[in-house]
Amino acid sequence: MPKVFVTRKVPQKGLDMLLNQEGLEVEIWPEPLPPSRETLAQKARGIDALYCLLTEKIDDALLDAAGPRLKVVSQMAVGVDNIDIAACTRRGIPVGNTPGALTEATADLTLALMLAAARQLLPAAAGVRAGKWGTWDPLGYLGPELFGSTVGIVGLGRIGLAVARRLQGFNARLLYNNPSPGPYAKEVDAQFVDLDTLLAESDFISLHCPLTPETRYLINADSLRKMKSSAILINTARGDVVDQAALAEALQQGVIAAAGLDVTSPEPILLDDPLLTLPNALVLPHIGSASITARQKMATMAAENLLAGLGKKPLPHCVNPEVYN
Ligand code: GLV
Repeated sequence: MPKVFVTRKVPQKGLDMLLNQEGLEVEIWPEPLPPSRETLAQKARGIDALYCLLTEKIDDALLDAAGPRLKVVSQMAVGVDNIDIAACTRRGIPVGNTPGALTEATADLTLALMLAAARQLLPAAAGVRAGKWGTWDPLGYLGPELFGSTVGIVGLGRIGLAVARRLQGFNARLLYNNPSPGPYAKEVDAQFVDLDTLLAESDFISLHCPLTPETRYLINADSLRKMKSSAILINTARGDVVDQAALAEALQQGVIAAAGLDVTSPEPILLDDPLLTLPNALVLPHIGSASITARQKMATMAAENLLAGLGKKPLPHCVNPEVYN
């Protein structure tokens, strides 16, 4: 009987698609925290399909531990930087992901971070709870308007486009940087600029690129210095796109004004990270896709990919289609 290991409890709709299959042995990791590397290797031994999350490192060692029966790796996420795709391809294993399912949820959260960081929502709300609301304060909690601002989008893909569409309602001037001019710019009237221009001209800079060797530490001490001192940096992509120590220093020294981060390095962020002491750093626990709709869609898409892989059919959403050549 084919065996599946699911590395966490995910929305029931997705689990049911697996549990309702005749002749499929499904084991679901029951703990709230991911299995350790050793446990994952143990649980993966002899499985036919792996249903995993971005918290698992899927590399040669894990694939070796799983063994030759493994037919598909299905990740419930769009980003797959935790998976050694080349290692999967070498073994003829298709890798699935969930593009599209979390686009709107992540774009919503990006706007929430922009507005919250700009208007100091967290310090303001904390002030209320701490009894510091003395009176209506003509000088209290001032911040820039998103409306009419210049927003630089690094990575105008699906999510970047969804952010840009929302920003049209804010009458924002849109700049973007991609490896090359992309197909989405026209719809949202976004101007392709080089990264330095984007950094220098943007009031808000929002990261929507995948984490790759090229984008690791794309935002570093050097690039932070190129931003306006009033700039607000938003990261809903991957923590390692930003040099976090350099960002903390820049926020401390007023090199830029504020940051809204949904992703950090590592995750969870270390409790002694200086970012957590700064009033102008808003850090969330990677909840970009945490809308009910998005998580359900991600769970069912990942189940669809997994079942296709088990049935030796092309995955509806395959990261490494070259595996079929
Ligand atoms: C979330 O970060 C994802 O990649 O789906």
